[in-house]
Amino acid sequence: MTDIRQQIETLRREIRRHDRLYYVEAAPEISDRQYDRLMDELKALETAHPELITPDSPTQRVAGEPVEAFATVTHAAAMLSIDNTYDHESLREFDRRVRRGLDGRAPGGYVVEPKVDGVAVNLRYENGRLVLAATRGDGRTGDDITANVRTIRVIPWRLRGDDGGVPEVVEVRGEVFWPTALFLQANARRVEQGLEPFANPRNGAAGTLKQLDPAVVKERRLSFVAHGFGEISGDLPERASQLAARLERWGVPFSGETTIVADIDAAWEAIEAFAAIRHTLPYAVDGAVVKVDRFDEREDLGATSRFPRWCIAYKYEAQQARSVLLDVDFQVGRLGTITPVARLTPVQLAGTTVSNASLHNFDQIERLGVRIGDTVVVEKAGEIIPQVVEVVDGRRPPDARAIGVPGACPVCQGPVARDEGGVYLRCVNPECGAQLRERLRWFAGRNQMDIEHLGPALIDQLVDTGLVKHFADLYTLTDEQLTPLERMGRQSARNVVEAIAGSKDRGLARVLAGLGIRHVGGRAAEILAETFGDVDALAAAGPEDLVATHEIGPVIAASVRRFFDSGAGRDTIERLKAAGVRMTADRAAAGAAPLAGKMVVITGTLSGFSRAAATAAVKAAGGRTASSVSAKTDFVVAGDSPGSKADKARALGVEIIDEAEFVKRLKA
Ligand code: IVH
Repeated sequence: MTDIRQQIETLRREIRRHDRLYYVEAAPEISDRQYDRLMDELKALETAHPELITPDSPTQRVAGEPVEAFATVTHAAAMLSIDNTYDHESLREFDRRVRRGLDGRAPGGYVVEPKVDGVAVNLRYENGRLVLAATRGDGRTGDDITANVRTIRVIPWRLRGDDGGVPEVVEVRGEVFWPTALFLQANARRVEQGLEPFANPRNGAAGTLKQLDPAVVKERRLSFVAHGFGEISGDLPERASQLAARLERWGVPFSGETTIVADIDAAWEAIEAFAAIRHTLPYAVDGAVVKVDRFDEREDLGATSRFPRWCIAYKYEAQQARSVLLDVDFQVGRLGTITPVARLTPVQLAGTTVSNASLHNFDQIERLGVRIGDTVVVEKAGEIIPQVVEVVDGRRPPDARAIGVPGACPVCQGPVARDEGGVYLRCVNPECGAQLRERLRWFAGRNQMDIEHLGPALIDQLVDTGLVKHFADLYTLTDEQLTPLERMGRQSARNVVEAIAGSKDRGLARVLAGLGIRHVGGRAAEILAETFGDVDALAAAGPEDLVATHEIGPVIAASVRRFFDSGAGRDTIERLKAAGVRMTADRAAAGAAPLAGKMVVITGTLSGFSRAAATAAVKAAGGRTASSVSAKTDFVVAGDSPGSKADKARALGVEIIDEAEFVKRLKA
């Protein structure tokens, strides 16, 4: 047993180390696949020994159940804002104020940090363990978002080196941000799924932290960088920079771009140097923050009701440029959404050459009153996505043309229709070539059917030559049909056909995800597949059966029903079936799993498990948990002082078991 315990601890240490290498140091030593393997190994051991699961195990990073709403918490020390300046002179003025506040003495150094454009949070560690994460809120009270924050991999659940060196209470403050590259990917996916994209990474991060389901937060892969402190017990070092270095050793990520400088002139140099490289960072930066480094001087300077007097933010100018609107193109997405894209005379903007910018939708065009030929102002939203924000007055040429709303799909000439809200225009021809292309790319994608060798260029050729008009046509392609295509030979044709055939056995979840049913992403697809087992059972499920599924809401349910009720949807399923695509859930691991297919509800306090640990143990044993008892519940685990859930179980005749029995069943 001690062996197993040691093995588990070693794996956990390894995984935490790789988390840090990946997210904090951006220097991973192993591939994602190898990382997943370590995680699988740990999960397997924990499944076999659920009594060894601890709440801070890396397997517990997704807390089990979505919370109902966030609890309000009062900050131990108020979270103030920062005063802003926009020019060199006011920065000198800040330095003069600091000296006056220190009775004429010069401060003993400043630190200059990036001003990360994210969402401020406070992380409270007690005895080295993360016990509370809260939003800034109004500065005095914020929301308890601990479950969501626990899914952010760079945020340690436990400070490393609990050798007694960690103070009893440490509050770390910093910004949760959405790394630019991941944000752009997620936004592109949202557009594909027919969802409104986020305006910028900050809004995206803020919206994500307000999600009630931590699993959604985990998927978005937010990150964090620390920049300050709240309550701290015990003795402080002399300088904030020393405390930051100490916390960094304990595993809290501070910005690597921080510079410690002697005086305000050096601070200005650091700000200017930083301006030049800020676009190369993985997060959006809208300025630099200058702070007095010594804690005793911070104390002497104090704060106004809104700002500390020991720091100031220097905001970089908004990144804007003028350009001329040459034309507007219309792009058709996977779900038929038609997006107007501005073609511009190329301009330099925030480190890149911009010649296209989003016009979002037709309402936006109307709001701007923009015409082709106009001089327009382009801005990078959240410093990232170029968009047209305004028309420059008095520069409209006489031959300026209005931007027409297409009456037909620009690609297939098929019918178009306004979306529910009236904001988006969609091509409603299910056979539209543009949609087919995008849908095939999606279908073949790594997280869907994962068909190697079926890349965008080949898909274009398959659509253009009419060889593929439907997903199912992929499965009847032959070497002879493919060999004559450009850049194909006999061997490559063979490889493609084999790769396609190999995808037949991916299972129901992958197929569902690949079909591009609106609102059904990878996770919903997995849940639907696991719950219903095969496609016929799913097709037969009524809206109420779908909604009764844990985590499937009315929007997803309606969309699934719409798909199976439509002629095109039924036809797709029939054709894929006929092509030999397996549409049953993967139950490979489930056969051996002790709780395979069981729906479990946990209520009351268990002595050996936190709620999250119990939920994870059920999951690891192949079962699922729900937050409320229904006729679908297989059994209820009742701990101390079980509430109304136990009553409801009795009323419905659902079996109730105690903790000892629960532990037995996990191992059975
Ligand atoms: S110091 C009392 N440092 O900007 C000191 N804030 O506009 C306040 N921010 O609420 C925080 N980067 O969320 C500090 N390096 C940095 C920062 C930073 C971003 C945010 C912070 C604050 C907001 C004020």
